Amino acid sequence: MFKIAVLTSGGGSNLQSIIDHIENGYLNDVVISFVIASKNNIKAIERAKCHNIPVYVINKELFTNPNDEIIKLCKTNKIDLIVLAGYLSILSGEILKQYKNRIINIHPSLIPKFCGPKMYGHFVHEAVYNAKESKTGCSVHYVTDVIDGGKIILQKEVILQPTDLPEDIAAKVLKLEHIALPQAIKKIKDSYKE
Ligand code: GRF
Repeated sequence: MFKIAVLTSGGGSNLQSIIDHIENGYLNDVVISFVIASKNNIKAIERAKCHNIPVYVINKELFTNPNDEIIKLCKTNKIDLIVLAGYLSILSGEILKQYKNRIINIHPSLIPKFCGPKMYGHFVHEAVYNAKESKTGCSVHYVTDVIDGGKIILQKEVILQPTDLPEDIAAKVLKLEHIALPQAIKKIKDSYKE
């Protein structure tokens, strides 16, 4: 089995998409060994518990060095791939070394556009709207010490209408994310088999 850990900080719709793609067979040999939440009382935790997936809340309030706790959990569970699905804390230092090319993130724009520090969530879609872009999309990329700077695994694009507001853009992009992230996980898993 290809074992993944999913890190999240919010609604968990991308986590849900991975769960759904495991259950519908698209990711049939993938298992979510556990979910790490950066805070309590987020919908992602409910989603994980509905599917009996272990959840660990890890943040600076609870642990002196959260990244060390994450490494410990990933090593103990022999995780093959760490998936950041709306995870708002920054991974740095040792974890990036020990899991080089084994941490991926989904970003809600067509990198290199609208990415980097402070470019997350609604800020991205507002910037796309203000720039009057004719298209946008999402990117799945490897995580490195450069925020949103790692090698791109795949991207999905959507054409925008002049009437699209930031919330309309966000909704269009989120739909793409739910396709892109499972596809990227499958692409990486299958490349491990070769
Ligand atoms: C998505 O917009 C994703 O691009 C960004 O955080 C959001 C996660 O949403 N990284 P959800 O928690 O998966 O619903």
